[in-house]
Amino acid sequence: MRTETGQVFKLKDYKPTDFVVERIDLTFELDPRETKVISRVILHRREGVAKDVPLVFDGDELTLDGLQLDGSDIDPALYDVTPDTLVIRGLPESAPFEVTVSTTISPETNTALMGLYRTNGVYCTQCEAEGFRRITYFYDRPDVLAVYTVTIIASKDEAKYLLSNGNYLGGGNYDEGRHFAAWFDPHPKPSYLFALVAGDLGLIEDTFTTMSGREVALKIYVEHGKEPRAGYAMDALKRSMRWDEEVYGREYDLDIFQIVAVSDFNMGAMENKGLNVFNDKYVLADPATATDADFANIEAIIAHEYFHNWTGNRITCRDWFQLCLKEGLTVYRDHAFSADQRSAPVKRIAEIRLLKAHQFPEDAGPLAHPVRPESYREINNFYTTTVYEKGSEVVRMIRTVVGAEDFRKGMDLYFERHDGDAATIEDFLACFAEASGRDFKQFSLWYSQAGTPSVTVSTDWNEAKKTFKVTLEQSLAPTPGQSRKAPMHIPLAYGLILPDGSEFAGHPTGKEAADGVLHLTRRRQVFTFTGVPGRPVLSINRGFSAPVNIAMEQSTADLAHIARHDSDGVARWQAISEQATRHLVEASRLARDGRNLPSARDLADILVATAADDSLEPAFRAQALTLPAESDIAREIGSNIDPDAIHAAREAVLSEIARAGLAVFSDLADGAPKGPYSPGAADAGRRALAGIAMNYAAIAEGSPARAKAAFDAADNMTTLSQALQVMTQNFPAAAETRQALDTFRTRFADDPLVLDKWYSLQALAPGAGTRARVEELLAGKDFDRTNPNRMRALVGAFTSGNPTGFNAADGGGYRLLAREVVDIDKRNPQLAARLLTAMRSWRSLEAERQEQARLALVSIRSAGNLSADVSDIVDRMLA
Ligand code: PHE
Ligand code: ZN
Repeated sequence: MRTETGQVFKLKDYKPTDFVVERIDLTFELDPRETKVISRVILHRREGVAKDVPLVFDGDELTLDGLQLDGSDIDPALYDVTPDTLVIRGLPESAPFEVTVSTTISPETNTALMGLYRTNGVYCTQCEAEGFRRITYFYDRPDVLAVYTVTIIASKDEAKYLLSNGNYLGGGNYDEGRHFAAWFDPHPKPSYLFALVAGDLGLIEDTFTTMSGREVALKIYVEHGKEPRAGYAMDALKRSMRWDEEVYGREYDLDIFQIVAVSDFNMGAMENKGLNVFNDKYVLADPATATDADFANIEAIIAHEYFHNWTGNRITCRDWFQLCLKEGLTVYRDHAFSADQRSAPVKRIAEIRLLKAHQFPEDAGPLAHPVRPESYREINNFYTTTVYEKGSEVVRMIRTVVGAEDFRKGMDLYFERHDGDAATIEDFLACFAEASGRDFKQFSLWYSQAGTPSVTVSTDWNEAKKTFKVTLEQSLAPTPGQSRKAPMHIPLAYGLILPDGSEFAGHPTGKEAADGVLHLTRRRQVFTFTGVPGRPVLSINRGFSAPVNIAMEQSTADLAHIARHDSDGVARWQAISEQATRHLVEASRLARDGRNLPSARDLADILVATAADDSLEPAFRAQALTLPAESDIAREIGSNIDPDAIHAAREAVLSEIARAGLAVFSDLADGAPKGPYSPGAADAGRRALAGIAMNYAAIAEGSPARAKAAFDAADNMTTLSQALQVMTQNFPAAAETRQALDTFRTRFADDPLVLDKWYSLQALAPGAGTRARVEELLAGKDFDRTNPNRMRALVGAFTSGNPTGFNAADGGGYRLLAREVVDIDKRNPQLAARLLTAMRSWRSLEAERQEQARLALVSIRSAGNLSADVSDIVDRMLA
C-alpha cells in the first residue's frame, strides 16, 4: 500500500484524463500466489490533447510482465514503469488503439484486503476506492467509465463458481482440471465497481420479476452450511427491489443480481455492479445466532447496496470529493426504506441517536471535514459518518425545503439527465433548483462548511397582545482549515403546542408558506405569531429536521408538555431525551466535584409512566427508556471530561429510575413475545422493551439472578445476548456472569460471528479493570488479528464503546490502542486507521488523560513506516 508521501489531492485540481477508455477486456488465471492478469484496453486520445502527451496509468505494488500496443511489444524506450505508475509515450494521435498490460499478483499475501485477495479460500476483490490499481495498471478513477468483459480461469477444485459483474456469457472446461467463465457488463462503469469472486461456496437462489415484466435471477453465495442463514437477506433484497420501483420508479437492469458473503472485509458491503460483496455479518442471520439489531442492519445494508445500482452505479461520482453524492443519497434512500418497512418514528429516533453519537463528535474534533471535502491525503479516510450520515441529513433537508412532490421531480430529473454520467454535487443540486424554482446557493454551504451549527432559541410570550415571538440565532464554530463561516439555510420544523395540548394552526406573520418549518437563513431572525390563544410551548427542530445543536432555556414543565402532547412521536422522544440529558449533565458535573447528586425523581416519573403506557409502541418505549450513553453526556459537557464521574452519575440515575419503577419493569421484563420468532418490527420492539426492562429490574434487585434465568431460558439470540449484557454490564465479577460467558463460548465455539459478540460484551464491561481482560483475550492462542470483524469486536468495542475502560486514568487503554494500530498497520492500513479514530475526541478530556492520550498518539507518529492511512489520521489528530 501507499506509504506516507504527504501528497495532498485537491478538488479544485480536477482535470479529465488525456485518453478516453472505450472498453476493457480482462483475463484472470487464478492462482493463490501467482495470478496472471491480462488487461486489454481500447482507448483514444481525447480531442485537443497534444500528440506528445503520454498515457499515465495508476498502479499500486504492481510488477509489469508485458506491454503491447495493438498486439506488438512496446519498445522499452517508450515507456516507464514503477510499482505505482505506467507511462507510455508515442501513442497514436487520433485513431483508437489497444494497450495490453500483463501483471502477476499474489492474492494470498494481500493482507490489506484491497484489490484481489483470499478470504477463507475464496478469491475476492475490493476495488473502492483505489483497489483496482492493485490488480492492473489502469485509469483507476471514478470518471473513467468503460464496458467490461471478464474471463476467469481457475482450478475446478479450488473454485467451483467463477463470478464477475454483468451477465453471464458462457464457460466450460479449460485444461488440466481447470475451467473458465466469461462475463459481460453492458453498463459502462468505473473501475471501483469491478468485482471478481471465485471459490467453492454454498448458494441460495430466487427470482424477481421487475415492473416491466423481466425476470431477474437472484443468487446469494455463502460459506457451505450457512445457506439457511441467507434467507432473510434474500427476502430483504426482493423487498428493496420492489421498493425502488414503487418509490423512485427505478428498475433493475441486468439479467442477474448476485451477492457474495465473505468473512474478511474492511467495511460493511460493496455495491459492485450486479455482484455485491458483503461482510458476512450483514448477510447471515437466523433467530439462534442473530439479534433483532442484526436483522435490521442486514435489511438496511442489503437495501443500501441495492439502491446504489441507481445512485452510485448508473450515476457515479466525477471524483472522490463527490463521494457524498452517492453515499449520502443512498443512505437517505435506505433510511426511507427501513422507515417504510418498520416504524418510521422509531427508525428516526435511532438515526438521530447515531448521528449525535458518531457524527457530532467527528464534526467537533480534529477530524472534522465538510460533507464534500476539498482536499485529502488518503481517500480511504473519508468514508466517514460525515460523508454518509450527515450527507444523508443534507438530502433530507433538501426534501424538507422543496417538499415531497418537488423532491421526487428533482430525483426524476437527476436520473434522467445524468444516467451514465460521473456527476457532481452541483449537478445534483441543479436538478432540485430546476424542479422547485428555488435557489440552492446558500443551501450548498451544507456541503462545504464543516461543523455542527448551533441555534440559540429564545421565545417571548405577550399575554396582553396574544403574540408569541421566536428569536433564532445561528453560529458555527471554526473547524480545521475553516476559521470563518457564513450563515447557513437551516430548516427547522416546529409546532406551537397550546396549554390544552392542541397545536396552534397559524404561521408566522409575513411568511408566505405554512409548511411547518422556520427557515433560518440569516445570523439572527425573529418570527412572530399573532392571535395565539394562550401561552404556547415551542417544539423546535421536530424530527431533527436539521442536524444542529439547539440551545434553548425550556422549563422541565414545558418539556413534559411536549413529551405528553406533541403530535410528532419523534418530538415527544426528543423532549424526554432532552430532559434526561440535562439531568445527567448536571449530575455528572456534581459527581466530578465530589458533591451530592440531585434527585432524579422527575425524570424517573416520566420514564416509568412512559414505560407503563400501553398506548405507546413498545419500541418507542424502549427508546425512551434508553438513557443517553456516557459518550452522549461527554459530548454535551464538551470539555474537561472525566469519564469516571460521568459513569458514576449515570449509574446513580439508572438505579434511582430502576428503584422507582421496579414493579413496572419487572412486569415488562416478561413481556417478550412467546412462540416462534419473527424478526419483524413489532416483535423486535416487544423484545427491546423487555430487554431494557430486564436491565432496570436487575439493577433495582442488585442481582444477576433474573438475567441468568433469562439467559438459561432464552430461545433466540436477541434475548440471550440481552441477558448476557445485563450481566456483563452490571455484574461483571459475579459467578453467574462467568458461567454464562463460558456457556456462550462453548455453545458458539465454531461460529465466528457469534463469538464476536462474546468478545464485544467483555470489552464493554465498564471500569479500569477491563483493559487487562482485553489483553488476555488478545493473547488467546486462537485470537485472529487478521480478521477485521474480530478486531473491531474486541479492540473497536473497547476503544469506542467503553469510556471508563479505554480512558482509564493511567493511559493504559491508549497505549494498547497505539500498539495495536502500529501492528495492524503493517498488514491492513485501512483497518488500523479506522480503529485509531476512536481517539478523535481526545482533546476534550481532562488534562491528565489528555496528556496520556497525546503521548500515545506521538508514539504512533514516531513508530516510522506508517501507511498513508494512519499517518494522515494521526497527523490531523495531533495538528
Ligand atoms: N461503497 C460501500 C458502501 O457504502 C462502502 C465501501 C467503501 C466498501 C470502500 C468498501 C470499500 O456501500
Ligand atoms: Zn454506500
